[in-house]
Amino acid sequence: MINLAGRDLLDLESLTAEEITAFLDTAETFTEILRRDVKKVPTLRGKSVVTLFYENSTRTRTSFEAAGKYMSADVINISGSTSSASKGESLRDTFLTIQSLTADCIIMRTPFSGACHQAAQWVSIPVINAGDGTHEHPTQGLLDVLTLRQAKGSLGGLTVAIVGDVAHSRVARSNIWALSKLGANVRLVGPGTLLPPDAQELPVEVFTDLREGLRGVDVVNVLRLQLERQTKALFPTQREYSKLFGVTRDALSVAKPDVLILHPGPMNRGLEIGGDVPDMPRSLIEKQVTNGVAVRMAVLYLVLGATG
Ligand code: CP
Repeated sequence: MINLAGRDLLDLESLTAEEITAFLDTAETFTEILRRDVKKVPTLRGKSVVTLFYENSTRTRTSFEAAGKYMSADVINISGSTSSASKGESLRDTFLTIQSLTADCIIMRTPFSGACHQAAQWVSIPVINAGDGTHEHPTQGLLDVLTLRQAKGSLGGLTVAIVGDVAHSRVARSNIWALSKLGANVRLVGPGTLLPPDAQELPVEVFTDLREGLRGVDVVNVLRLQLERQTKALFPTQREYSKLFGVTRDALSVAKPDVLILHPGPMNRGLEIGGDVPDMPRSLIEKQVTNGVAVRMAVLYLVLGATG
C-alpha cells in the first residue's frame, strides 16, 4: 500500500509508476462523487487548503477549489496580484505566513520554474505544484493519463503525439513522464524552434513534420502557443504556424481512425487546433476538465492523509 500522506506533489518525473497509479486509482473512485446530485463528502472536514496563484488560471484553480469544497475542506484563494508580494514580501515569508495561518497544504502556480521545489523546503506542510514556469504541471499530467486510461483501459503500447509549443510547455513535460512511466510511446511534434533543447535526453521520438508525427498515432495532445513565455520570435507568423502545425481534421486523417484528441486548455481554436476539432466525437477535452476535479480530489485526499 503506497502512503503519500504528508508528501509534496512537485513533479511527475520523480514519481514511480506505482505512485502515479495510486493517484489515478484514487481519482477513479472520486469520479463517482462527481456524478452525484449532492457532490459533498466529509472526508477533509477541518482541513484548510490555500491556493496561491501568481498566474491566471480557469481550470486548475477552480478545480482545486471545487475538489477541496466537495470534500468539505476550507479553501482559501490568494492571487499574486492581491497578496503582500506586491508590497515586497518574499516568497519565503509568504509561505511561512500561510503555514502560520494554520493551512494544511499550499497549492501554488508560478511563472518561475523550480519555485515550488524551493518553497517546499521552507514549510513542513505539503506543497502542490499547480504549474511552475516551463517545468511541470503534475496534476494536468495525471488528469490527462486518467482520461486516456478510462478511454483505452491501459496506457501500455499507446502512441501519443504531443504537438505544438513543447519547449514552453509544463504540461508536455508532465505528460512525457507520466505516459512513458505507464508504458506509452511519446512523440514530440513541432517546429524545431518550439521543441525542447534537451529532447534527446527525454524518453520521446521527435518529429518536425506534422503529418509524419501524426501518422498512425492513437492520441494527439495539442498544445497552445505559449506566447507569454516566448522571449523572441520563434516562427514567422501565426498564420504560417497554423498552416504547418495546426491540428485540423485533415491533419488527423493520417492518425488511427479512432484517434483521441486532448488539449489541456486554454484553447485557441483556429490556431493550434482546427476550429471544429474540439467538438469531434473523438475529442476528450471536456472529459479532461471533469477529470481534473477528480484528480485534484485524489491529490488532496492522499497528501492530507485522509481516510474513509
Ligand atoms: N490547463 C490549465 O492549466 O489551464 P488553466 O491555465 O486554466 O488552469
